[in-house]
Amino acid sequence: MSTLQRVIANAVAAVDRAGRIVKEVLHSGSLGIIDKAQDDLQTEADRSAQKCIVASLSKSFPRMKIIGEEGAQEGMAAKDDWIVKELDGAVLKETLPSDLAGVDEKDIVCWVDPLDGTKEYTQGLLDHVTVLVGFAVGGKAVAGVVHQPFYNYTKQADPFKQGRTMWGIVGLGVRGITPAVPASGKIITTTRSHSSPTINACIEAMKPTEVIRVGGAGHKVLLLIEGQAHAYVFPSPGCKKWDTCAPEALLEAAGGALTDIHGSKILYHADVDHPNWGGVLATCKRDLLPQYLREVPESVRQALPVLGQKL
Ligand SMILES: *[C@@H]1O[C@H](CO)[C@@H](O)[C@H](O)[C@H]1NC(C)=O
Repeated sequence: MSTLQRVIANAVAAVDRAGRIVKEVLHSGSLGIIDKAQDDLQTEADRSAQKCIVASLSKSFPRMKIIGEEGAQEGMAAKDDWIVKELDGAVLKETLPSDLAGVDEKDIVCWVDPLDGTKEYTQGLLDHVTVLVGFAVGGKAVAGVVHQPFYNYTKQADPFKQGRTMWGIVGLGVRGITPAVPASGKIITTTRSHSSPTINACIEAMKPTEVIRVGGAGHKVLLLIEGQAHAYVFPSPGCKKWDTCAPEALLEAAGGALTDIHGSKILYHADVDHPNWGGVLATCKRDLLPQYLREVPESVRQALPVLGQKL
């Protein structure tokens, strides 16, 4: 059994446990919100869900580098029942592509966003919330585990029966979600709460038939995979590697593509800068990407640094 496969299988089990924590915090009625920076919220759910995922993965895979949105945390340690040792059986049944099968544990970098869409979580827009665990090898996002804890919450009243987990491995495909493309139009999804003149100018130049403004990079990529939008356009340095690693791998495994606004691959080595300085451009199908890249106005390109250049 390959190491990467066991790592992914553990992550699939752990995100489910993290999702339960996210629900328990919501239903406890006390979110424990703090403002980390201007308009960058963190709740008890972010903190506890990260502890659950990091403690689980590092227990079984101590040589893997794990980088989480909430950083190294002080205070309460992970509770014993947050440490997930199970390996998801469906993942173990797959055969990994040969280039990934032999990867050593120390060469895997894991990017964790325990609660993508925190603002929407605090506002009750629950389907925008995802738990993201992405894996990179050689700087490339190769596998993504995405859990949507409140999936189907408008129809299913029991919170502990809501939710779904999707995962994808580049070169293998996606599980838990069925890829589709929109039937018509030119539908763009973008940020709900972090808009800017640059973002608006870029979207306007693309002449969409519809713009869907929602929270969370994970949620936006799910809209692309499920055929609700053609492109995700975010020409801003406002998102981070843990926001994009798992969604990028899931999208690529489903046939789409995600790059920065210049068309450069986002790199996920252990020592990279955390912000995605070049923004994000993603399409539901890989062959749509060049067209959207051409439509990015020159002024927008100039507003965002090219890869490797810091603001
Ligand atoms: C959503 O919940 C309803 C009510 O329990 C259920 O009938 C339906 O199958 C669920 N849909 C999905 C996609 O899980």
